[in-house]
Amino acid sequence: MENEGRRKFLGVCVAGATAAAAVAAGYPVFRYLAPRTGQGGAAKLVIPAGELKEGDAKFFEFAGSSAVLIKTKTGELVALSAVCTHLGCIVQWVKEKQQFLCPCHGGQFSTDGSVLGGPPPRPLAKIPLTVTEGNITIG
Ligand code: FES
Repeated sequence: MENEGRRKFLGVCVAGATAAAAVAAGYPVFRYLAPRTGQGGAAKLVIPAGELKEGDAKFFEFAGSSAVLIKTKTGELVALSAVCTHLGCIVQWVKEKQQFLCPCHGGQFSTDGSVLGGPPPRPLAKIPLTVTEGNITIG
């Protein structure tokens, strides 16, 4: 009877330690993939137009969330939310393919934010921008 009590106690200890280890290991991964929220990031942002070459993307904080500015190979400027519309991971820019890839479930988006493949139900949200005197104003 006493051994059974010890076994149960040890079982509870091992289960608790396993759960704590899983949370400790998983939390950094969750923080990396989860969209940033909060007060960080301006609601209007000015980026010098010369900072971006054709085919490149620049990620930044905008209104408390991750966003991206791209200059297409044809020279068009597009600002988009970088938060995947599936489950909210941050998309990555694949320069060779000129498209966005979501690292979580393989969602793919074009340079205008349209869904090219994978589970995302909607395009990436567009952010308005204006270009004046060599500066790109986002928002
Ligand atoms: S969160 Fe982007 S594809 Fe699932």
